[in-house]
Amino acid sequence: MSPTIRPRRLRRTPALRRLVAETRIHPSQLILPMFVADGIAEARPIGSMPGVVQHTIDSASHAVEEAIEAGIGGVMLFGVPRDEDKDATGSAGIDPDGILNRATAALDERFGDDTVIQTDLCLDEFTDHGHCGVLDEWGGIDNDETLERYAEMAIAQVDAGSAMVGLSGMMDGQVAFVRDALDDAGYEDAAILAYAAKYASALYGPFREAVGSSLQGDRRTYQQDPANAREGVREAALDEAEGADVLMVKPASFYLDVLRDVADEAQVPVWAYQVSGEYAMVEAAAANGWIDRERAIAESVTSIVRAGADAVLTYWAVELARSLR
Ligand code: PBG
Repeated sequence: MSPTIRPRRLRRTPALRRLVAETRIHPSQLILPMFVADGIAEARPIGSMPGVVQHTIDSASHAVEEAIEAGIGGVMLFGVPRDEDKDATGSAGIDPDGILNRATAALDERFGDDTVIQTDLCLDEFTDHGHCGVLDEWGGIDNDETLERYAEMAIAQVDAGSAMVGLSGMMDGQVAFVRDALDDAGYEDAAILAYAAKYASALYGPFREAVGSSLQGDRRTYQQDPANAREGVREAALDEAEGADVLMVKPASFYLDVLRDVADEAQVPVWAYQVSGEYAMVEAAAANGWIDRERAIAESVTSIVRAGADAVLTYWAVELARSLR
């Protein structure tokens, strides 16, 4: 007997497949992470992330212009200070003359009305030990002292022109603490993106080169154990209750189950970060001729959106946005 139910009918032609697609990516839901470095004369390639660079403020400005032309939703800035500007408490992240705040001010002035300039709010790029927080006398991470630094950093970033601060340090209580500090400073309108479920992942490897990280050891006492999905949902619920405007799951591809669970529960937008290792794996395989690069890029981001992400931070944001046009 021949089948009467034939799902293949809707796959017959490209036009039919396009019509019945359940997931569509729009350029406006893509966000480009960008690195801006101090003390360099021109943009510098990052070996482990072919196609991604450490920018000067000038080259970043040009890149943001291109990003706006491509129609993406926004950019997320990371600062790369000079080694000699790093210290135990990450002062260069709070200093208005620090590279991240300087870059934010320059980009906000030029593009603040045309896109959403967001900033990474974490100490790791600015500390000489490379951790996301300040250390206590035994070398552990002092959660509550770190919150004080995050509050100062948040105010400095919003002063500079950041529209949304991305709290990526995974300290307990960071969202409530920073919200309070921003409100006290009169910055009720500055939004908080909470890296709510952030896992201690091998996939951040290339990023450590990208920001010239000084980290020895790992972040397992503050970032989450990859084994735990329920804990990710709990972290997200806590951040939402503390006043997060947007929740993030990170990394993306290895954590699609967590992303789905968080998206099912959340009352605020849920974003996902396709991190440096996700980028590097595809680029490396493609460079070897082992994978179809464009298809892998589109498939990876489609899958992240399918799993529940309202927007995706991806190093392919501009390229992908152009290809969607
Ligand atoms: C911490 C931070 C990291 C990334 C974004 N924010 C590094 C880490 O947690 O070790 C990683 C992003 C990526 O790998 O693309 N400020």
